[in-house]
Amino acid sequence: MHRGWFVAGVGLLLAAAASASDPPRESALLADPAVSIAVAQGENPYPVHLVRPPEAPLSAMARLGRAAFFDTSLSSSGRLSCAACHSPEHAYGPPGGAPAANGGPAVSRQGVRAVPSLMYLERQPGFSIGPDDDENENVSLTQLAVLGQQVPRAKKTATNTAETAANVVPQGGLFWDGRADTLQDQALGPLLSPLEMDGGSVATVAAKLRRAPYAARMVRLFGASVFATPRLAVAEALFAVARYQIEDSSFHPYTSKFDYWLEGKARLSPEELRGYRLFNNPEKANCGGCHLDQPRPDGLPPLFTDGQFEALGAPRNPALVVNRDPAYFDLGICGPYRTDMRNETQFCGMFRTPTLRNVAARHVFFHNGVFHSLREVQDFYNYRDTEPGRVYPHAADGTVARFDDIPPAYRRNVDVEDPPFDRHLGDQPAMTPEEELDIIAFLRTLTDGFQPAQ
Ligand code: HEC
Ligand code: HEC
Repeated sequence: MHRGWFVAGVGLLLAAAASASDPPRESALLADPAVSIAVAQGENPYPVHLVRPPEAPLSAMARLGRAAFFDTSLSSSGRLSCAACHSPEHAYGPPGGAPAANGGPAVSRQGVRAVPSLMYLERQPGFSIGPDDDENENVSLTQLAVLGQQVPRAKKTATNTAETAANVVPQGGLFWDGRADTLQDQALGPLLSPLEMDGGSVATVAAKLRRAPYAARMVRLFGASVFATPRLAVAEALFAVARYQIEDSSFHPYTSKFDYWLEGKARLSPEELRGYRLFNNPEKANCGGCHLDQPRPDGLPPLFTDGQFEALGAPRNPALVVNRDPAYFDLGICGPYRTDMRNETQFCGMFRTPTLRNVAARHVFFHNGVFHSLREVQDFYNYRDTEPGRVYPHAADGTVARFDDIPPAYRRNVDVEDPPFDRHLGDQPAMTPEEELDIIAFLRTLTDGFQPAQ
C-alpha cells in the first residue's frame, strides 16, 4: 500500500511539468500542503523501506575469494590482481582516467575497453533477448533475435521503462557485450587475457594457486582432489572470487544519499531535486527511461540500469591503440570479442547500459572510454542529434563524422527513438547548460558512503 503511494506519488512528482498525460493528478498531490512543504524542503514525501542484501560475516569461501581477488601473483607481471583494475577505493572501477587499463607481462599493453565497476552486479540476470518469460525458455537466442526484428519496439521513457515496454531486445549478462553469464564464468577471461592479467594457461594459473598462501584453505574447502586437475583448481578459485563479490557488502551497500532520500532520511538540495526531475522527465533528459531509478515493488533499491543494450553511437576514441587500425570496430554484441551473435547485425554497436551508481567516482565513461567527465557525457546526450559538431570530429571534407565508431552499414542500429535521442539537427537541445549541471548534481547523490544525519 505504502509502496503504491510511492510509485503514484513520486512518479507524478517527477513527471512535473513534463507529463502531458498526468498534470492534474500531480497538482492535486502537490495541493496537499504537507506534500508540497516536504518537497520544498528537499524531502521525499513518500518514503519507502529499501530491502538491502543481508549482511553477514563472509563465509570461508568468500574469504578465500577475497585472497584470490587481491593476489597479484596470478598475473604474468606479478603486479596485477583483480583489484588493480577494479579498485576498491574507486567503487571497484578503474583508479585513473585512462581509456582502458594496461595489462600483459610488463603492464604495458593497452586493453580495448573501459574497465567497468564490479558493483551492483549481484542481481544481474544472464544474457537473454526479450523479457524473462517461461515461454521463451526453450527458444534459441537466434530465434529470439529474429522475433525481435518482427515486433516493433516501444519507445523507452522515464514513464514507460523497459519493465513496462517489454521489448524483445537483448538484455542481461556480464561485460559490455553481455558475453558471460555468471561472475564465475566471467573471471577466467581477465585472468588469462594477454591484455589483462595474462595468466598464461589454466595449467599455469593452477600451478600458481597451488603455491599461493591460501592453497591449504582451498584443500580444506574443496577437498584434496582440488589440485588433481588444473581446470578444477581454477574453476573453484573463481567460484570463490564470485562468492566474495556476492557476499561482501562493499560491492552492494546501497548507502548513497539518494538511497537515504528514498527512505526519508536525507534531503536533496534544490539542484539535486531539479536534476532528479529532469532525469525522469520524458520530454527532457529522460535518463530514467534506461537508467531505472524507481525502487522495485518488493523494496529492492533501483539499479540505475534496465540491463538492456543500446547502440548510442559514441564517438570513436583515438586514444585507444586498437583504433589505429581504421578497419577495426568494437561492435559490442555482434563482435569481435563476443562471437555467438556475429550474424545478428541488427545488434551491431549495442552495449549494455551500465549502472549510474557511483558514476561520479569514475574518470572515464562509456565502453570505449571516450568521455572523461560527466559534463562531456551530458553534452553527448544533449547535442548528439541537435548539434553533432560539438560531439564528433570533422571529416577531411569538413562534414561532421557522426557515428564514426560504427561502420555505415550498421548506423541504422543507433537509437534515434528514445528521448533525448529523438531530436533532429537544429532542434532545441533537451537540456540547457544549467540543467546539465543539475543532473550532474543529482548523479553525485548516487555515490555510496553518505552519512545520514541522526
Ligand atoms: C587489466 C585490467 C583488469 C583486470 C586485472 C581485471 N579486469 Fe575485470 N574487467 C576489465 C575490463 C576492461 C572489463 C570489461 C571487458 C569487456 O566488457 O569486454 C572487465 C570486466 C569485468 C567484469 C564484468 C563487469 C560488468 O559490468 O559486466 C567482472 C565481473 C570482472 N571484470 C571481474 C574481474 C575479476 C574477478 C578479476 C580478477 C580475476 C578481474 N576482473 C581482473 C579489466 C580488468
Ligand atoms: C536509451 C537508453 C539510455 C538513455 C535514455 C540514457 N542512457 Fe546513459 N547509457 C546508456 C547506455 C547503453 C550506455 C553505455 C553506452 C556505451 O558504452 O556505448 C550509457 C552510459 C552512460 C554513462 C556512462 C557510465 C559509465 O560507467 O561509463 C553515464 C554517466 C550515463 N549513461 C548517464 C546518462 C544520463 C545522465 C542520461 C540522461 C541525460 C542518460 N544516461 C540517458 C543508455 C541510456
